[in-house]
Amino acid sequence: MTIVVTGAAGFIGSNFVLNWLTYSKEKVIALDKLTYAGNLENLKSVEANTNYEFAHGDIGDSRLVAKLLHQHQPRAIINFAAESHVDRSIHGPDDFMQTNILGTYRLLDEARSFFKTLSEENQKQFRFLHVSTDEVYGTLSSTDPAFKETKQYEPNSPYSASKAASDHLVRAWHHTYGLPVLTTNCSNNYGPYHFPEKLIPLCILKALQGQDLPIYGDGQQIRDWLYVVDHCKGIETVLDKGKIGETYNIGGWNEKTNLEVVHILCDLLDELKPREDGKSYRDQITFVKDRPGHDQRYAIDATKISKELGWKPEETFETGIRKTVQWYLDNQDWVANVQSGDYKMWLNKNYS
Ligand code: NAD
Ligand code: TYD
Repeated sequence: MTIVVTGAAGFIGSNFVLNWLTYSKEKVIALDKLTYAGNLENLKSVEANTNYEFAHGDIGDSRLVAKLLHQHQPRAIINFAAESHVDRSIHGPDDFMQTNILGTYRLLDEARSFFKTLSEENQKQFRFLHVSTDEVYGTLSSTDPAFKETKQYEPNSPYSASKAASDHLVRAWHHTYGLPVLTTNCSNNYGPYHFPEKLIPLCILKALQGQDLPIYGDGQQIRDWLYVVDHCKGIETVLDKGKIGETYNIGGWNEKTNLEVVHILCDLLDELKPREDGKSYRDQITFVKDRPGHDQRYAIDATKISKELGWKPEETFETGIRKTVQWYLDNQDWVANVQSGDYKMWLNKNYS
């Protein structure tokens, strides 16, 4: 048996593939366009694994996708491929529309054509699992209940609007064409291989390099953090036991303000890698201009996946964030590799 994982060289996709190959005998075909966010270094440890194969390409390349599906006859496609950074979507939405909307459409349509060629038995097993985000639901006030799967979609950024569009396409391909789909909507992830333009890795690396830690606005926006491996296990659970056509929220019940998160990072670094001058990394915190249209709060109600499918996160924020900080301290080569010219150009553009 084989699965196709798109966006497999990115943050969550690579964690998913690495985790999958630790326990499953099923072959993984990893499809990735290798944008700035895709990094084959993330998958280096499985390069020699005979159950792993990498295909370089775009989910929007119908010919390539059709060829891969017919060649490998997968029993599932797990779609992580996306443009994923809100700040980049504000500076340049075009790539987001191309990959998240058109790319997902083309991938779905090739999955539909492939599905039609399967035997009845194989059709029963086939799944298209679409990995989405809680950001499609919009923003919450401090007193609103956490997002349930029934919450109306109210996306506010070009990123979340493009992800919302992709979720709707997935739904339509099920209702109209009978493609057996599953959708997961997860909260903010953190952990190993996180590209250092997102808050947590950005602050760890900037702290270690003696630079300012940029907090947007007053730092009181709230995110609901989940350790990436817990997200991957949630996706495996949905793939295994989820009901066709359903959506499942995945979250860690870990709401924190951005300022709280950065304080925790600074305190951990003070313990694990103290500054030479004996001062705290908290001294490097700087408040900068807020992100336009910045959503105030995200929070996931993960009751459905927990009650119906039995999934629960294994890490608390305290255990997960400690592992994450230690991972960045232990993997300075990976860090040096991703901090390329393109990365520096991005920092200049976003923070100037
Ligand atoms: P990422 O940006 O780290 O990785 C995305 C990967 O997709 C990269 O390897 C990139 O090269 C690849 N890709 C981009 N366009 C492609 C295309 N057209 N064809 C093939 N590959 C392409 O993102 P991530 O953080 O790993 O997120 C993965 C998925 O999970 C996304 O769909 C995202 O919306 C969703 N998600 C992310 C989070 C989070 O906190 N990071 C939370 C919930 C949901
Ligand atoms: P981010 O990691 O970009 O994820 P998302 O926007 O998808 O939630 O940002 C997490 C939070 O951190 C978000 O509220 C924006 C904030 N943030 C900062 O305060 N400073 C930064 O430099 C970055 C990148 C994010």
